[in-house]
Amino acid sequence: MTVIPLASGHRPVSPIHVAIIMDGNGRWARARGLPRTAGHRRGAEAARIAVETAMRIGVQYLTLFAFSSENWKRPESEVSDLMGLLRHYLRSEIGRFHDGGVRLKVIGDRSRLSPDIVTLISAGEERTAGNQKLTLTIALNYGGRAEIAIAARHIALDVAAGLLRADEVDERLIASRLETTGIPDPDLLIRTSGEQRISNFLIWQLAYTELVFLDLLWPDFSRKDFEAAIREYEGRNRRYGAVQDPVIVS
Ligand code: FPP
Repeated sequence: MTVIPLASGHRPVSPIHVAIIMDGNGRWARARGLPRTAGHRRGAEAARIAVETAMRIGVQYLTLFAFSSENWKRPESEVSDLMGLLRHYLRSEIGRFHDGGVRLKVIGDRSRLSPDIVTLISAGEERTAGNQKLTLTIALNYGGRAEIAIAARHIALDVAAGLLRADEVDERLIASRLETTGIPDPDLLIRTSGEQRISNFLIWQLAYTELVFLDLLWPDFSRKDFEAAIREYEGRNRRYGAVQDPVIVS
C-alpha cells in the first residue's frame, strides 16, 4: 500500500501578490447618467483605496490593469481623459507612495504614451526603487500576448547570436524575460463588473492563480470588498495540478 501525502496541496495563508482587472467604470457612470469620464475618476479613487488596503493587510505585490493595448480603440476623448487621469494620479501619488514604502513599477509598451507621462513613470520608478513594503505594478498599454511575443523574439535573437542554446529555453528562462521578472506570479486575480474573462492580462503569470469575479462595478470596490475577496481566496485549496487529500494506492 502506498500513501501519497498531502504535501503538494495546501491551504494558502494570505496572498502575496494580488492582481486586479478594474472593470465597470463606464457602466457605473451610465447608471448615474454621468459621462464615462466620471466613472474613470471614481475608478482612480477606488484604485487609491485598493493600494492603501493592500498595504494595510500586508499584500506585498499589487498589480492593476489600468489601460490595455486594446483600449486605444475607445473614442479619442475617453483615451485622452484616461491619460490625463493617469498623469494626475502619478503626479499626486508618487510622493505619498514613496513615504508609505511603495515601489512603483509600470509594465506595458511606453512607446505610444506621451513623453511627459513616460518621464513621470521613469522618475517615479527611480524614486521609489528602494522601497519594500508594497510593489505596485501598473499595467499601461499592456497586453499579455505581446509581452510573451517580445520575450520570444529576444530569446530567438540570443539563440541566433550564439548567446543561448535552444535546449536552454525553458519556463524559467521565458519567465525571466517577461516584464514581471522578479515578481512572483499572482496568487489571486480579482475582476470586478461581473465579466468572467482574463482579457489578455498577465496570461503567462496567471497559470495557477485563483480567480475571483465580483458582481460589482470598479468605482464601488471598497476596502471591505477587497478583504472579502482575500477571505474567499483563503478558503480555497490550491493544488497546482496535484491531489487534495492523501490518496491510497493499493
Ligand atoms: C474599465 O472600465 C476600466 C478601464 C479601462 C480603465 C481603468 C482605469 C482606472 C480605474 C482609472 C485610472 C487608474 C489608475 C491606476 C490611475 P470600463 O470603462 O471598461 O467600464 P465598462 O466596461 O463599464 O464600460
